[in-house]
Amino acid sequence: MYTPDAQRILYELSKKLLYSPQPAVSEETAAERIENLRSVIRYHEWRYYALNDPVISDFEYDQLYKQLEALERQHPELITPDSPTQRVSSDLIEEINQVAHLTPMLSLDNSYDARDLLEFDTSVKKLAGLTPDAVVEYAVEPKFDGGTIALLYENDRLVRAATRGNGLVGDEITANIRTLRSVPLQAPFKQYGIEKAELRGEAIIRKDVFEKLNAARLAAGESPFANPRNAATGGLRMKDPKETASRGLEAFIYQLSYAVDKQGKSVLERFPTHMDALNMLEEIGFKVPTANRTPLGLPERRLCRGIEEVIAFCNAWQERRDAYLYEIDGMVIKVNALDLQERCGATTHHPRWAVAFKFKARQATTRLRDVEFQVGKTGAVTPVAKLEPVQLAGVTIQSVSLHNEDFIRSKDIRIGDYVLVERAGDVIPYVVKVLDHLRDGSERPIEYPKRCPACQSPLVKPEDEAIWRCENADCEAQVLQRMIFHASKHAMDIEGLGESTITRFYQLGWLRSIADIYRLDYDKIAQLEGFGEKSAANLRQAIEKAKRNPIHRLLHSLSIHHLGQKSSKLLAAQVKHVLELAEWDLERYQQIKDIGPVLAQNIYHFFHNPRNLDMLRTMEALGVNLSQTPEDLRPSATAEGPLVGKTILFTGTLASMTREQAEARAAAAGAIVASGVSKNLNILVVGDKAGSKLRKAQELGTVEIWTEAEFLERV
Ligand code: IVH
Repeated sequence: MYTPDAQRILYELSKKLLYSPQPAVSEETAAERIENLRSVIRYHEWRYYALNDPVISDFEYDQLYKQLEALERQHPELITPDSPTQRVSSDLIEEINQVAHLTPMLSLDNSYDARDLLEFDTSVKKLAGLTPDAVVEYAVEPKFDGGTIALLYENDRLVRAATRGNGLVGDEITANIRTLRSVPLQAPFKQYGIEKAELRGEAIIRKDVFEKLNAARLAAGESPFANPRNAATGGLRMKDPKETASRGLEAFIYQLSYAVDKQGKSVLERFPTHMDALNMLEEIGFKVPTANRTPLGLPERRLCRGIEEVIAFCNAWQERRDAYLYEIDGMVIKVNALDLQERCGATTHHPRWAVAFKFKARQATTRLRDVEFQVGKTGAVTPVAKLEPVQLAGVTIQSVSLHNEDFIRSKDIRIGDYVLVERAGDVIPYVVKVLDHLRDGSERPIEYPKRCPACQSPLVKPEDEAIWRCENADCEAQVLQRMIFHASKHAMDIEGLGESTITRFYQLGWLRSIADIYRLDYDKIAQLEGFGEKSAANLRQAIEKAKRNPIHRLLHSLSIHHLGQKSSKLLAAQVKHVLELAEWDLERYQQIKDIGPVLAQNIYHFFHNPRNLDMLRTMEALGVNLSQTPEDLRPSATAEGPLVGKTILFTGTLASMTREQAEARAAAAGAIVASGVSKNLNILVVGDKAGSKLRKAQELGTVEIWTEAEFLERV
């Protein structure tokens, strides 16, 4: 659909529309500009949603979209239903209508191992009248685990969408499907002589989107979805299309089930193989399983010659399924040639030319031994079920979150119960239900604690929340969790400083607050069992790298309740230095788009707690970047002061102030606080019982050695 030339033109047109004053071309009318905007937006939606490979930034896309919205507001007479702005309608679906499918939507027969697949191959050859040694071509693709959809296009426009229903009649869900940006509202079928077409596919949710959705539901006190499939099928049937839009569904198309020309004559034979049909659909803008290699090292769809190749491909996918973006429960194997498909035929239940290869089950039953209550980084106390270890698709599961009190109550979960657990991909395991017919009367109800299991403070439950909290910000369990989160991938991304290492350092007494991460003693670490010089040096490098992170990462890493990656970016964009936030009043946070009153409150609290500010100042003194421009990384708090350009280090116990206070004052005086003695160190301030650092500095001979009093005099 988009030749390289067309893509270049659309790209350049996008830039023109973005960056040149309106109108971009002098004689451009509003109607023309609107059409131009629509063309480029459709193109970028295709790059983003169908190919997963955008060529402009999200911000630029938003700007184009806003321009189009504004122009359409000025010229409502120019709005057409297939405009990219018309995906989400505000009409509620009063009642879901039933519609008949153009041809029945059959199911698939299942297979579970190589033997089943060999049998399938034998049966295909028999049905198609081929000799046993013939080699059949099969198209193989993932079996997406979501909600089945059927899309009807007429005259190049999407006119109807439906669920599978009972296979003959489904529910009409057009308004909801229109909100999926991977579903083109218009597509050039006519280019292929097709007047009317029906496509089949699956609406699914990416695993990471699913995790976020569940996190948001939990934060809002709602029960999470059991798996991405439930979230997807539920999302298709919302009364309010806005709700569907907010679930982030995507649609993979896997079949062209019907295609006729102007005269109503079938043109399916123009696509003599399944691969041909998918290639055509891909060409005109649909998201289909890709024949190109994905980051997994495998294509999503492959043409396999003979069943042996099919088996190898299925096994390769089975091994990698956890690393895939979407949840899949198997592979689908289809005879590629349409004429062979026809010769195989179908039962009333399933085609004989296709079969599903099901991966190992993700569900298992086991006994719930006990419930522990864990304290999270913001004080939320979460019940965690301890299970008798059970294998779930190759992973041993021994604990599973029970989320909150409502979840336990709604499922009536008791200690000693047998439960059905499911693990959807790398998605967290989930208790689907209790097997209550196996109860013998010895099961005990789960008692919610009244006090924090770590620090014994009384737990509180805010009225509008489903979660009990420990409100003691110094609670050791919380502090530990905050450090773990701070170093984690989505926050400061410190490689080599995972949960177990942090816990170990914490138990050794080396980590008491986040700031301590930036003054670890690498000599001591090198001597730890399992570490050594090399790992200590690597850790140091990772921590040094983290110090230069942009401030949105830092903001996110602070565990401010509800401050996610996105809102951290919004917040970061408002300041030149993180500590400016301490001078804002509450309203000012709320003025930022997408920051609501609750989050504003949380940020305000954080930045008006002197201890948090001390911590940030200390971190800055230790070299952590708190300034907007990441290139501008000299970690001094001020550009002026008596110690500008000097690198300083404190050792031993100071008499008049804590180490943190000293470091903050040094930074305020313009100094960079070092993490150890090296050739770059200028000043060592020695307190009581100074040890190896002092010796090292004396050996170097280049370091000025100050007393605490001298330091105070200078600053
Ligand atoms: S082809 C006649 N291909 O699996 C063949 N189905 O029992 C019809 N599914 O709910 C299905 N991924 O929605 C096909 N790549 C794929 C699929 C797929 C998922 C679902 C389908 C239906 C079920 C079939």
